[in-house]
Amino acid sequence: MAHPPPVTKAVIPAAGLGTRFVPATKAMPKEMLPVIDTPAIQYVVEEAAAAGLTNVLMVTARNKANIEDHFDRNIELEEVLEAKGDEDGLASIRASSEIASMHYVRQGQPLGLGHAVLCAAQHVGNEPFAVLLGDDFIDARDKLLQRMLEVRQQYGGSIVALMEVEPELVSAYGVASIKPTDTEDVVAITDLVEKPQVGEAPSNWIVVGRYVCDPAIFDVLRVTKPGRGGEIQLTDALRTLARTDRSEGARQDGGGVHGVLFRGRRYDTGNKLDYLQTVIRFACERPDIAPEFVPWLRGYLASLSPDNR
Ligand code: G1P
Repeated sequence: MAHPPPVTKAVIPAAGLGTRFVPATKAMPKEMLPVIDTPAIQYVVEEAAAAGLTNVLMVTARNKANIEDHFDRNIELEEVLEAKGDEDGLASIRASSEIASMHYVRQGQPLGLGHAVLCAAQHVGNEPFAVLLGDDFIDARDKLLQRMLEVRQQYGGSIVALMEVEPELVSAYGVASIKPTDTEDVVAITDLVEKPQVGEAPSNWIVVGRYVCDPAIFDVLRVTKPGRGGEIQLTDALRTLARTDRSEGARQDGGGVHGVLFRGRRYDTGNKLDYLQTVIRFACERPDIAPEFVPWLRGYLASLSPDNR
């Protein structure tokens, strides 16, 4: 492939109801749950911007207005912080409105992740684009999305991020059937299965929520039938692109699907236990919090009765 067009846009699906976090998410989007003092979704937008994707489309739904407010200016609050001389606070609330150029589209019905991505078709047009799911984010020191964009330049088609997990965990994820390429951290994907039963998964390599999609995905999504959970699955559309590429003669212009094998730090905020672990890990690394928090945490753990440890 001579010069594949560069990726400039990121799509962040954020339309889910957040049922795993009720009652907190009854009147607040789950994406706004804070990791210490920063909403989880801000880390995701920062991840896109750090990879050069400053045109961000968020796919939202009812009850998600707080997200738009967070990435907008809040002049009233700025004035109050300015009057108090709180320079740090002022910088922090301005920063979140300057990370990226934000756009929004609504997914009127919860028809699945694939349908949410299809809602981005008009904004994205005929260009490759990244998809970042809001339930997890990647450590800013581990340049996963940048690497995926490089791999897209080299291999074309669509790229997914893969992590290896224990076999009993695969049923919560999309799982890839893979074969090696000449590049150590890149595999060709020959099949994808959304949330297989343990024992039926093609491998232990799960799809984490980072994708670079060829625009061919939109035509596939338009005809993708509801799959797992009765929802239109992004995994199923990628599977079509992956498989089409294998069959001689039936090759579409999707260019196949490759995986980047990721072994870095991923923070999950999609369920209670992982969310809590993410908050604690961040607290233990934050220079403004760790010096007091870590000794407290050590003492607290030591004070727990053996039954609670
Ligand atoms: C979605 C995808 C799944 C992927 C996962 C990553 O599932 O459908 O293929 O492995 O994100 O977090 P969800 O977590 O939305 O059920």
